[in-house]
Amino acid sequence: MRFSTILLAFIEATFLLSGVVSWPHVPLKTSGRWIQDSTGNVLTYAGVNWPGAADTMIPEGLQYQSIETIVGMIKSLGMNVIRLTFAIEMIDDIYNGGDVTLETSFNNVLGSSGASVYNDVLSNNPSFNSSTTRLQVFDAIAKECLKQGIYVHLDNHISKAMWCCSETDGNAWFGDTYFNVGNWKRGLEYMVTRGASWGNLISIGMRNELRTPADNSTLEADSYGWKDWYSNMVAAADIINAANPDILIFFSGLNYDTDDSPLPLASSLGGGEVFDKSSFAYKDKIVLELHNYETGTSDCSSFQQELYGYGFDALDRANTSIKNILPVVMTEWGFEQDSSGYSSTYVTCLASYLPSHHAGWMIWVIAGSYYIRSGTLDYDETWGLLSHDWSDWRYSSGVTGVLQPMISSCLATATSVAPSTSALASTSTGTRALTTASTFATVTTSIVSTSRSTTSVASSTTSAASTTVAQWGQCGGREWTGSTIVSQRKENPTNYSKH
Ligand SMILES: *[C@@H]1O[C@H](CO)[C@@H](O)[C@H](O)[C@H]1NC(C)=O
Ligand SMILES: *[C@@H]1O[C@H](CO)[C@@H](O)[C@H](O)[C@H]1NC(C)=O
Ligand SMILES: *[C@@H]1O[C@H](CO)[C@@H](O)[C@H](O)[C@H]1NC(C)=O
Ligand SMILES: *[C@@H]1O[C@H](CO)[C@@H](O)[C@H](O)[C@H]1NC(C)=O
Repeated sequence: MRFSTILLAFIEATFLLSGVVSWPHVPLKTSGRWIQDSTGNVLTYAGVNWPGAADTMIPEGLQYQSIETIVGMIKSLGMNVIRLTFAIEMIDDIYNGGDVTLETSFNNVLGSSGASVYNDVLSNNPSFNSSTTRLQVFDAIAKECLKQGIYVHLDNHISKAMWCCSETDGNAWFGDTYFNVGNWKRGLEYMVTRGASWGNLISIGMRNELRTPADNSTLEADSYGWKDWYSNMVAAADIINAANPDILIFFSGLNYDTDDSPLPLASSLGGGEVFDKSSFAYKDKIVLELHNYETGTSDCSSFQQELYGYGFDALDRANTSIKNILPVVMTEWGFEQDSSGYSSTYVTCLASYLPSHHAGWMIWVIAGSYYIRSGTLDYDETWGLLSHDWSDWRYSSGVTGVLQPMISSCLATATSVAPSTSALASTSTGTRALTTASTFATVTTSIVSTSRSTTSVASSTTSAASTTVAQWGQCGGREWTGSTIVSQRKENPTNYSKH
């Protein structure tokens, strides 16, 4: 019991210390498999995608609700981050004559419906006016998130603004019809520079869902693969880090970002390249991201083994084959917001897998509808957490019964991991395993209120840890032992597009 008393005292001290540093706790950095905030606490992303990269290039939903209301809904779940997507075309416009006003964009894209949508956006969001531009909406969302205690992760979703993604949409790969590499780098640099003034921008995803450019067989044959992935992604990461050295940089993989497999292993990428975390000057800013939409999976165990092989093995400090130990965040997963969606193996499996490994995630999608999608006005999003008019949850019992427990489990990570600062340390080659597992304790905490300045711990109990597996946190988190999970790659992935 003496040990647990010390542990509790440590937790309380950590809260006191973090209490004096006002939110946002930036900049973040990585430490081995963890993301840490500026107070040293672990931050596990638990959030939602907010699309802003479709045809209008205006973040969705504002014809139905205010930014304040939407952010409040996200906050009410306890989420700590949004993934805010943007199109490179918006920055191209800014360089070619200036950003476009909301009025112009709605009129251009929505035709005769543009005026009424624009008027609804203004009546819900009275701080906007006839000179408000698209980028100013991004600013306003970040500002409201700052106010309500939510971080912003930017995501370059596409080059030419539209619903994403297909292999023939011209945005699939570096050099594809609309995917101008120079413009892409310029757009990333522009957005991370802009976001530096927000205060709560913590990270950026460099490119959403790289995929086979099936519309250009020459480009596919000559370029699609890890070698060109490496040269392009590293060049862009260098630009981002030079422009905004504070933020984390998320590397997405191939095949609609379902595959990061050679990166943890530092396997040959071709052309003599390997991904070596320690070769980066900003090695404590690198995170891997993965997407998964295998909604039809029927076998949780093999599904988890696939995820391990596709890149979640980067979290496994006990596996000596893993050369690059890195945080991994599932930046997209999603499903029909109905009872069968929530009861699917896919959801029940991820709802246990992600918290148990303290892996961050952002679900697709907050949007109950889109201004326009693939030519359909006011498109209903059946995967949206929100209803069509963004006024309530689409399937409330799923959101509260499945998502909220996932969120609170993940957010408990900070308390449960903070005591073991040694466990946060990891060598750059990542071979350090948890050698002190037997001295660890399980810490169960309930966070009853988390605001920008106060966090109160309602109850705390401790118990002895397993001697073989360190268990952290109320989500029952455990380190991989190496023996329980083996890699099993799926060579012929199913249709990975969002729907
Ligand atoms: C119009 O809105 C923008 C931001 O959306 C703001 O910067 C500007 O001051 C507003 N103009 C007026 C006249 O209120
Ligand atoms: C295919 O992509 C390459 C590289 O961007 C480009 O030079 C070529 O014109 C493209 N071909 C077609 C048919 O679009
Ligand atoms: C270590 O990781 C590799 C790559 O994912 C995997 O093939 C192997 O089975 C893992 N080893 C153990 C002991 O888990
Ligand atoms: C993937 O699924 C979407 C929606 O069901 C469909 O429109 C698309 O054609 C599919 N793509 C492939 C390559 O099967």
